Amino acid sequence: MRARITGTGMSVPDGILSNADLEKIVDTTDEWIVTRTGIKERRMAEEGQSLSDFAIPAAERALEMAGVEGADVDLVICATISSDRLFPATSCIIQDAIGAKDAPAFDLSAACTGFIYGLNIGTQFIEAGRARNVLVVGGEMLTQIVDWSDRATCVLFGDGAGAVLLQATEQNRGVLGYAMHADGALADLIERPGGGSRSPISHAMIDAGLANIRMRGNETFKKAVRRLAEVSVEALAECELGPRDVDWFIPHQANKRIIDAVGQRLAVPDGATYVNVERYGNTSAASVPIALDELNRAGRVEDGQIVLMTAFGSGLTWASAVVKW
Ligand code: UT7
Repeated sequence: MRARITGTGMSVPDGILSNADLEKIVDTTDEWIVTRTGIKERRMAEEGQSLSDFAIPAAERALEMAGVEGADVDLVICATISSDRLFPATSCIIQDAIGAKDAPAFDLSAACTGFIYGLNIGTQFIEAGRARNVLVVGGEMLTQIVDWSDRATCVLFGDGAGAVLLQATEQNRGVLGYAMHADGALADLIERPGGGSRSPISHAMIDAGLANIRMRGNETFKKAVRRLAEVSVEALAECELGPRDVDWFIPHQANKRIIDAVGQRLAVPDGATYVNVERYGNTSAASVPIALDELNRAGRVEDGQIVLMTAFGSGLTWASAVVKW
């Protein structure tokens, strides 16, 4: 039994925050942001909007494409670090909205790597024969938790959600292989320290800026390039494939320079790498499923093509999945 992606969907806020807008907020320039990151604009939710406002439509679009009713979904996984509430899980809100009555639902915290972790976990349920239809959503509202006075991070992140429906198939297609890793020794490279049990919600915690994202960008950058290339080779090897066999390479969209460096290290074929970081910035767990949906809806992924997805994020966590379309 294999797990095949039969539907994809995405939903992002209408509001666009351009680099010119950011020039008015922090000491930065369009030129710095474009040359260091490749980002030109990102989407930003309005006050009052929350993750499920985007995660639900993304999920509905994936179901519609697959032609599957919500009632037939056996498991809902939502990868996020910016859920609607601290609990219950946003996956439960999605489960109710799509009508997947009584189906198990859980959120998954692996930051930017969360969607690929979720895809690989959903695949396990299907391959074990414990589920036939698994909905995997990746979504974030990171503009709500960035520090708008920290120019090194606030220019990077954006909001949105993407989703896929995984379905059981007897055919030799779908998720062929994957690799997943973490290194908790580097937990403080990217973190949101406050609001949990280590530093509970308090005025002092908020005043100290602990409720916002903190990142040691340059160290993260170097780790990301090495790990993304390594884990991609590992996942491809599991399927007896190599980088030259990849038709579409969909890396986490954090920084165009990271994407280019990983593409070069791997030596995937020219034109195989999909990039949309210039329009959305880093949407963390949403970045890979948004890119996949754009590519899929444009009709650019052909039957039988090999799609390599890879991501890296806080934890540290990193993972890849290889899909035969
Ligand atoms: O999604 C999870 C994984 N996250 C990532 O993969 C992100 C990885 N990191 C990065 O993408 C890059 O490290 C950044 C884009 C965050 C930063 O680029 P960098 O080339 O690593 O720059 P840097 O942090 O070494 O900073 C270089 C200079 C510094 O000034 P000095 O000390 O050289 O005078 C910064 O203060 O750039 C300055 N700087 C800025 N200048 C204008 C930092 N942010 C800005 C800014 N505008 N927004």
